[in-house]
Amino acid sequence: MNLPALSIPPNLLTARDAVLRLRGSKIREVANASLGRGDGDVLAFWFGEPDELTPEFIRRAGIAALEAGETFYTHNYGIAELRAALAAYLSGLHRPVAVENIIVTSSGMPALMLVTQALVGPGDRVVEVTPLWPNLVEIPKVLGAQVTCVPLDFAPSGWTLNLDRLLAALTPGTRALYINSPNNPTGWTATREVQQKILDHCRRLGIWIIADDAYNRMYFGEGAAAPSFLDIAQDGDRLVSTNTFSKSWLMTGWRIGWLVAPPELAVQIGKLIEYNTACVPVFVQRAGVVAVQAGEMVIRHTVERYRRARDFLIPELNAIPGVQAAIPLGAMYAFFRVEGVTDSLAFCKKLVVDAKLGLAPGIAFGPEGEGFVRWCFASSVERLGEGIERLGTQMRRLG
Ligand SMILES: Cc1ncc(COP(=O)(O)O)c(C=O)c1O
Repeated sequence: MNLPALSIPPNLLTARDAVLRLRGSKIREVANASLGRGDGDVLAFWFGEPDELTPEFIRRAGIAALEAGETFYTHNYGIAELRAALAAYLSGLHRPVAVENIIVTSSGMPALMLVTQALVGPGDRVVEVTPLWPNLVEIPKVLGAQVTCVPLDFAPSGWTLNLDRLLAALTPGTRALYINSPNNPTGWTATREVQQKILDHCRRLGIWIIADDAYNRMYFGEGAAAPSFLDIAQDGDRLVSTNTFSKSWLMTGWRIGWLVAPPELAVQIGKLIEYNTACVPVFVQRAGVVAVQAGEMVIRHTVERYRRARDFLIPELNAIPGVQAAIPLGAMYAFFRVEGVTDSLAFCKKLVVDAKLGLAPGIAFGPEGEGFVRWCFASSVERLGEGIERLGTQMRRLG
């Protein structure tokens, strides 16, 4: 397919041009090559997905709603019970959040797409902290935005953000900052102080903060949740928080999430929902109500499992000569450096063929991720141990 000439000024890019320029996922490139070949016995840790079923009491709520005949369209913003449950949940976790600010979406990905459709246009400048989950980088590009990346710094002791560098990149006229904390793939988590400085700066310059809080509860530090902009924001702030049921309540396949936005923006997003999906299926929302109201033990169980997985995996990775891994403070990934690797895509493709181990190439998370590999540790320690053996064997084979 012919791509449009690169000389087109960003503000004249059509939506179609922008779509033609989107990158395909390099995680998929590794996985699909393997799945396409029908490789057997691959131990796959390439996707970011919990390995456990949605708990039965949540599934039952969805089934009960279907059996009760809840098969019709609902309000664009979500059913009243779920919005009220989310308002209570978020107000308990952060500061008071009003029902009018909450919109139920068909998971975290559409929440991000909707807010971007409402806020970002061709040629707009947006800033992102990277390495980053590829969807977050590509979504603003669908709308023709120019994405400026501010890379985190890696050290074996942890990933860090150079705050001055980020604030310098957030120039007057910048439309939005997209920030994901805890971060996929690095696990980097912004402190309250850092968030406050970012918020003050963005307030001064009228820059929107789009906070992807998908891993807010997948947090290994103190407290029930990672620091969130929702803890410090005030009415009138240009803040949108997007979230999902996928990780906290093990509900990836249900496709349900939400966003918190100022009421004026929520109205615009409501219109977009009408023209995208109309609403989230009502039986899915009923399961969501039960998850939010009775799912705290699911979150506690999951975080403890991931903590054990992390505490096993990171030292094991560091024990392999040539591998350097920092301890992630949140999310469910090890994003580790492999000495001598300059083409992580080729490394991961070879790893599947030679060692039957499926990992995600760092380059999938932006150029700053080159030389790194991502391992999703939402898994049992036994499975992780098997994966470590395979990686060790491959590293010895490669010398
Ligand atoms: C950082 C981040 N945000 C959002 C999502 C969205 O998840 P979903 O669309 O399943 O809600 C993901 C999924 O992997 C993610 O990693």
